[in-house]
Amino acid sequence: MLQRLFLILCLLSCVALTSAGCSKPETEQAVAAQTDAAEELDAGPVPGVDYHSFANTDDYRVRHVDMDLTVDFSRKVLEGEVILHFDRLNDSNNPLILDTRDLVVESVRAGQGDDLQDTTFTLVDSDDFLGEPLTIDLPSDATTVAVRYRTIPEASGLQWLDPIQTAGKQHPFLFTQAQAIHARSFVPLQDTPGVRMTYNATIRTPAELRAVMSANNDPDAEKNGIYHFSMPQPIPSYLIALAVGDLEFKAMGDRTGVYAEKELLDAAAAEFEDTESMLEIAEDMYGPYRWDRYDLLILPPSFPFGGMENPRLSFITPTVLAGDKSLVALIAHELAHSWSGNLVTNSSWRDLWLNEGFTTYLTSRIMQNVYGDERYHMEMALGYARLEDDLENLDDTAQILAIDMRGIDPDDAFSNIPYNKGALFLYELEQKVGRDDFDRFLLDYFNEFAFQSVTTEDFLAYLERTLLQTHMEALDADRINQWIFEPGLPDAAPHPTSDAFSRIDPVRQGWLDGGIAASDIDTDGWTYHQWKYFLDGMPEMLTEGQLAAIDQAFGLTKSTNNEIAFSWLRIAIRNDYAPAFARLEHFLMSIGRNKFVMPLYQDLMDNNKADFAVRVFEQARPGYHPLTVKRNSQIVYPETDS
Ligand code: BES
Ligand code: ZN
Repeated sequence: MLQRLFLILCLLSCVALTSAGCSKPETEQAVAAQTDAAEELDAGPVPGVDYHSFANTDDYRVRHVDMDLTVDFSRKVLEGEVILHFDRLNDSNNPLILDTRDLVVESVRAGQGDDLQDTTFTLVDSDDFLGEPLTIDLPSDATTVAVRYRTIPEASGLQWLDPIQTAGKQHPFLFTQAQAIHARSFVPLQDTPGVRMTYNATIRTPAELRAVMSANNDPDAEKNGIYHFSMPQPIPSYLIALAVGDLEFKAMGDRTGVYAEKELLDAAAAEFEDTESMLEIAEDMYGPYRWDRYDLLILPPSFPFGGMENPRLSFITPTVLAGDKSLVALIAHELAHSWSGNLVTNSSWRDLWLNEGFTTYLTSRIMQNVYGDERYHMEMALGYARLEDDLENLDDTAQILAIDMRGIDPDDAFSNIPYNKGALFLYELEQKVGRDDFDRFLLDYFNEFAFQSVTTEDFLAYLERTLLQTHMEALDADRINQWIFEPGLPDAAPHPTSDAFSRIDPVRQGWLDGGIAASDIDTDGWTYHQWKYFLDGMPEMLTEGQLAAIDQAFGLTKSTNNEIAFSWLRIAIRNDYAPAFARLEHFLMSIGRNKFVMPLYQDLMDNNKADFAVRVFEQARPGYHPLTVKRNSQIVYPETDS
């Protein structure tokens, strides 16, 4: 495996460092200069080079995509034609190289406008995690290609759900998840966040279902199985999204609403009723919302993430429907991506922290405005705790914000570092220059780079010519570099704390010492956050009696808050607390969100419960998303090289 990784790494750097490769810098000289520098030092990755795409974006840039796709639930296949309109950046007339993974390509035409002729292409089989480059020969004046193709049922970016896996149990469901490099498994394109395109789509579905996309959804569109979409703002490929199911719509505000199966619609609209206020607050701080509407789509529980910021239509796990708005920071997060990520986009996956760190920072600001200081401090403190965990457990190289992703599958590199270390860095800047100036800086940054892709170095150069000039005495360039390019945290980095949590510590300790009985703890008015903190601060080992006492007093095994259930189930696994295992099994069978299921399978493996883990995993597997299958197979079958 290691050898294979090394080989991929070499191959990749060769591809990327030749002029036919996938680098972004605008001129060939710039590429050559960077190439020399990189070779001389074997200096890490070249900024702006996307090591996760085969596309020759120095030769051609796709500007617009037209899709006409049929959703065939019986074969679990998406099929049809996509037409890519591109600019030619030079007169090399090199073949056009697109990204694909597991696509079956039937024919390719090329030419100008509607005048397209069959052309030759090659698609070489490979099991590389980057997929297979589709190489298309072009007539010398071609600016359009049309690809007829279909997906395979196991496409990594699609999940096809049987009716039984939905809330209504009557109709099948399909959804896409393109970030980071899965768009290529359902559309052939330049699958790199360095390229932006507009799109139009016609989606053909069974007549009783509704299709929605990261585009101009019309809740009043007749339900007839043919749906038309357009996305007029240019977006990177990882934000192309489609879902098809028995969906209904409910408005929450003038610009906000929710799509869900009818069983969940009212609960979702109530839980997320503050979305419109969040949108207004974000606009006050960071400038106008540029995407027209902001709607939510509630997915079935197998959705592998908490949320995904698909423009105009964030995809949301139903596991945050707690009934008390306790988990709605997720909505603030996906909304905040409308500025950090969707408007100003990471140039490659090395720069993910520009998306996620900024978004995590913006989230905390939105939450503070809508729900007040106490919740703000608690959520910051919980974020800090997640960061501490990762700083303890991850290798040094994985703790770097501008992470070297060469040869690494982005699916395997997911951590809290880009989120919480990135956000903590911005919080430090805020503390040093003051909120007003920092807000102004962010507003200007979003305007400066609107609808563009940005490298870590672009951000640093911008910081240098703005904040660093105006706040020379407060800021220190070396320290900023340390934040971005070194593992760990700089000395005396901020450490967010919460008074509401400090009040929990003596209570927990008193109970652990035996001074107070579980049933005597005054938990009146405890928020979800305090419960989470109470549980996450428990020592490794508890006695059977202690476990039974808090379970009985607080109904933990029965908790309907999935975050609390998750924290409790981790304690139960570590301590072999049998009464919680039926709930654990049900949890793993019914939820596919990796943030929950991966740690639970890992805990089972680490606590001599591999048999249980394998049994439940195999039972749950047919209902899991391809990503959940891939990530958790690596955990429950650690010896196999997958
Ligand atoms: N864009 C991410 C999800 C993502 C990141 C998918 C990288 C693939 C690769 C999304 O905005 C996100 O961060 N989701 C989090 C939300 C949480 C931090 C509030 C999640 O799913 O848990
Ligand atoms: Zn995010």
